[in-house]
Amino acid sequence: MKIVLAYSGGLDTTVSIRWLKEKYNADVITVSVDVGQKDDFKKLEERAYVAGSSKHYTIDAKKEFVEKYVLYDIIMNGLYEDVYPLSTALARPLIAEKVVEVAKKENTEYIAHGSTSKGNDQVRFDLAIQANMPNAKIITPARSWNMTREDEVKFAKEHGIPIKEESSKYSIDENLWGRSIEGDIIDNPFTEVPEDAFEITKKIKDGKEKIIISFEKGVPVKINGKKMDLLDIIYTLTQIAGNLGFGRVDHLENRVVGFKSREIYEVPAALCIISAHKDLEKTVYTPLELRFKKNLDQTWSDLVYEGLWYEPLKETIEKTGLQMNEWITGDVELEIYGDGIRILGRNSPYSSYSDKVASYNKGWYPTEEMAKGFIEIWGMHSLLARKVRYG
Ligand code: ARG
Ligand code: SIN
Repeated sequence: MKIVLAYSGGLDTTVSIRWLKEKYNADVITVSVDVGQKDDFKKLEERAYVAGSSKHYTIDAKKEFVEKYVLYDIIMNGLYEDVYPLSTALARPLIAEKVVEVAKKENTEYIAHGSTSKGNDQVRFDLAIQANMPNAKIITPARSWNMTREDEVKFAKEHGIPIKEESSKYSIDENLWGRSIEGDIIDNPFTEVPEDAFEITKKIKDGKEKIIISFEKGVPVKINGKKMDLLDIIYTLTQIAGNLGFGRVDHLENRVVGFKSREIYEVPAALCIISAHKDLEKTVYTPLELRFKKNLDQTWSDLVYEGLWYEPLKETIEKTGLQMNEWITGDVELEIYGDGIRILGRNSPYSSYSDKVASYNKGWYPTEEMAKGFIEIWGMHSLLARKVRYG
C-alpha cells in the first residue's frame, strides 16, 4: 500500500509520516509544495526521510500559485470578514491538486493530509482532493489520533523524529501571499501577541515610504514606474511594507466549522495591493458597478474561505470579475507609515471623474431650477411613504 502525504514539514505532518507507516504498514510518499514559504526544502526532504518517508517530491508551484490563485484574490479584492486576504485558504486547493498528480503518477488512491478536525483546512483539502480525484481514499492522521500538540512533540521525541524548534509553540502556515499564526498564548484573545510570533513584519518603525502601484486590467504591473512580474511585485512590497511594520492583522474569525478562533496574519503585500486595487475600482466604476462588485467580492471571498473552490458559482463570479477588471488600469500612490496605509492619489484613463464637473471653482453648474427639480423627484418616494405612515 502506498500513501501520498501532503508534507509541510511542520509538527502534524512530520509525526504523520511515522504514524501512517506504522498503522497501515504502508510506503509513505511525501509531497512538499513550494508556494513561497520560507522553508529550506532540502532540510524538509531530509526531515521527511528521517521520519520514515520512502520517496519525497518537492514541487515548485510559486508561479502557478501567483497566476491562478493570488491573481484572483487581487481581481476579487479577496478579504474574509474584511481583513484576511485568504493566503492559507488559497493555497490549499493548489496543494491538493499537486498531491493528486503525484498519487496518479504513483498509482495509488490513498492520500493523506495533516489537518485537524477543528480547522478549515480539512474542509478545503478534502473537497479539493475529491474534486481532482473522485475515487481518492482520504486518510487524516491528525483527525483520528487524538493527540494534543504536546503529545505530538512527545511522540516525535520518542521516535527520534526531528521537528522544527518553533513547532512546539505556534501553529504556522506560510506562503508568498501571507503568514498565518495561531496557538499557544495567542489562543487568549485578550492577550497582546508577543513579538516572537512575527517573522515577515518588523516591529513598527517611525519611517514612512511612498509607493506607486500601476495596474493593467486589474493586475499590478509596476512599482514606482518599474515593470516587474507579479511575483517580484509581491516580494518587493512584502519587503518594503513588512520592514516598516505594516501588514499585521489580529483577527477573531468565524471558522467554517462553527466556532470563533483567533488568528494572526502577516500580509503586507496583500493589503497594499488590495487597498490600491479597491481604490482604482472606485475610481473607474459607476456607482452601480461598484455596489455589484462589492457583493461579488464578498461572495467570492466566502466561497474561498469555506473551501468551495470548485463551486461552479465561483467560476461565474470570476468571469464577471475579470470582465469588469478590463477597465482597471491606472496608478495608485500609497504611503505606508508604521502599521498604517494611506492612499495619496489615483489616476486612470478610464476614470469618469471630471474636475470641470466636480469642482466648486470652475466649469459646469446645474441651474437652481435643475437642482430643485432633481431633488423633488429624487426624494419623492421617501417623503410620500413618510406622509402616509405618520401624517
Ligand atoms: N484561519 C486561517 C484560514 O482558515 C489559517 C489557517 C491555518 N493557520 C495556521 N496557523 N496553521 O485560512
Ligand atoms: C488545522 O486545523 O489543520 C489548521 C488550522 C485550520 O485549518 O484552520
